[in-house]
Amino acid sequence: MTNTHEILEALKMRGGQQEDLFAAARLARRLSLGNEVTLRGVIEVTNICRVNCDYCPMRRDNTHENDRFSLSEDDIVDSVHAIVEAGIGVVLLQGGETPRVLPVIERALKRITNEYPRLEIILNLGNFSHDQYARLREAGATSYILKHESSDVALFERLRHEPFEERMHCLWDLKSLGFRVGTGLMTGLPGQSMESIVSDLMLAREVGVQMCSVSPFVPAPNTPMEGLPAGDNELALNVIACMRVLFPFMSIPSVSALERTHTGGQRRGLDAGANVLTINFSKSKDREKYLIYGKNRFIVSASHVETIVRQAGMVVKASDSVASTTMGAPV
Ligand code: 5AD
Ligand code: SF4
Repeated sequence: MTNTHEILEALKMRGGQQEDLFAAARLARRLSLGNEVTLRGVIEVTNICRVNCDYCPMRRDNTHENDRFSLSEDDIVDSVHAIVEAGIGVVLLQGGETPRVLPVIERALKRITNEYPRLEIILNLGNFSHDQYARLREAGATSYILKHESSDVALFERLRHEPFEERMHCLWDLKSLGFRVGTGLMTGLPGQSMESIVSDLMLAREVGVQMCSVSPFVPAPNTPMEGLPAGDNELALNVIACMRVLFPFMSIPSVSALERTHTGGQRRGLDAGANVLTINFSKSKDREKYLIYGKNRFIVSASHVETIVRQAGMVVKASDSVASTTMGAPV
């Protein structure tokens, strides 16, 4: 799979051809990363957002409907303890885009890195300035996910009401600061072409990201897009498989949105070549207010992860003992 035409053909595969594509992706994964799934523990730090994405219930225009929350420094540190105690070596702090959280995050990061110097800390907090990113890096964040969502500039700007250029500028800033960088795309957006999905993969290559996610579009309630059809899971799965073949070492999550529309969808993500699963460590009162995908989003638990990792014939990657104390067995 070396040129645009071959990738386009691969994205359309179904049935036996699709199974062959997935098998090639699994082989690429086995040769590069073994059969290991990396677990991330996610903490949702705030549902406040200054952006107004048409697909997201936490969009700015819904401020009056959403009961807004923002974690304290202690809340964040407590949840990190829970993640490390569960034997997980990667923490993902994610939230809506607001500069309000930055001082809290910075202070929490300093405490966390002091306690666990080997923990990987990924932030997913949106666009900020070079200086703001530099402070987060300085405070101990190792990685940053900033999804480009779609490389179709007109589509990006129509759905996000933000300049695409600015997003790319942020991605390059993150790279230059030495973060491990992640991007991501959505598939099945209205008006999105297959060619633009190939461009999404080329963008990931050009920036040289270490992580990339794919999420099928979920029509979420209380958004301007609630009445639209959901993105096809099969297309998102084919994107995962193509990414694995093209970028064998990439960290590729099998996201909960795959499970949201199809039971077994997240397991299929592993079958298609993904190697990362994210377990939710937000407290349930906050979880209910983190309205991404709407109220009945699929919450990934440790037991769900255990089941699908086993079903996929994979094993959980040991977290190399990031905790100074003795840890329990990995989930
Ligand atoms: N459908 C699919 N993915 C979504 N995201 C947000 N809302 C939706 C939706 N309705 C994804 C986007 C965003 C991340 C927080 O979740 O990729 O960056
Ligand atoms: Fe904000 Fe992210 Fe939702 Fe967009 S997708 S409105 S940036 S929380």
